[in-house]
Amino acid sequence: MEALVNGIHLHHVQAGNGIPLLLIHGYPLDHALWQPQVNGLADTNVARVIAPDLRGFGQSDAPEGAYTMETYADDLFALLDVLQVERAVVCGLSMGGYIALAFWQKYANRVRGLILVDTRAGADAPVVRQGRLDMVELVRQRGSKPAAEAMLPRVLAESTRQTRPDLVELARTMMLRQSPAGIIGAQLGMAERPDSAPLLPTINVPTLCIFGAEDAITPVEPEGRGMAAAIPGAKLVVIPNAGHLSNLEQPEAFNTAVREFLSTNYTNLH
Ligand code: MLT
Repeated sequence: MEALVNGIHLHHVQAGNGIPLLLIHGYPLDHALWQPQVNGLADTNVARVIAPDLRGFGQSDAPEGAYTMETYADDLFALLDVLQVERAVVCGLSMGGYIALAFWQKYANRVRGLILVDTRAGADAPVVRQGRLDMVELVRQRGSKPAAEAMLPRVLAESTRQTRPDLVELARTMMLRQSPAGIIGAQLGMAERPDSAPLLPTINVPTLCIFGAEDAITPVEPEGRGMAAAIPGAKLVVIPNAGHLSNLEQPEAFNTAVREFLSTNYTNLH
C-alpha cells in the first residue's frame, strides 16, 4: 500500500489485528527486514503490524538531500495519522532505533511502548561520522554497491553466515536494491543526528531492548545493557546465535520476546 505523507509516497505493509506495532527498519534495508514479524506476529493477531519503507528505501519515494532522524519521524507520524492509529508500540532496529528515539522526543503522546533493537542512543564518534561522509562520496561515484559491500560482512552473526546462505543472500539482495539517493540521505542524516542518551531517562512507557548476542555493530556490552539500564523499568532480552539483524536471524526467539512484552504490558490488546 502507498500513503502520501509529508510530501512523499511511503510504501508500507499492514497485517493482523491487535495493538498497533510500527516496525522501523535499519540501514540500508527496507520493510522486508520484518517479514518474519509480519508473518509471525500478525498471524496470531497479537498485533496490527505496520511495516513501512522509510523515505529513500524500498518502494518509497527517494528525494535528494539529507534525511534527518526527525524527518523520518515526521513521515511516520503522518503515516500513523493516515492509518488512523492514535498510539502505537514503536519498534526500531539500528537506524530504526535512532528514529524511534527521535519519534519519542517529538511525538511521545503517540507512543504506547518502545522496542529498541540492536541500536544505540549516542551520536556518532568523529571517525564514524567521517566514515559516513566518505561512503556518501563513494556512493555518488559508484552507486549503491559499496554501501552493501561495507555492511554485509558485519550484519550477521558468524553462525548465521556459516549455516544460513539464504539469509546472507536475502540481506545482500535487500541492500543492493536500495537507491543511491536513499543511502546518501540516510548516511547524511545519521551523521548529523544528536546524542539521544539524555532522552532515555524520560521514557515512561513500557520498553523492551532486544540485542543479538553476537551483534558486532551495536554490541550488547555496552550498548544494550547501558540502554536498558538508563530507561526506567526497561527489560533487556539477549538473543543467542544472532548478530545485528536479530529479528531475521532468530525470528522465533525474537517474536516470543515481543509477544511476551505485548501480553505483559497491554491487557487489552486492541
Ligand atoms: C543500521 O543497521 O541501521 C546501521 O548499522 C546504522 C548505522 O549505520 O549506524
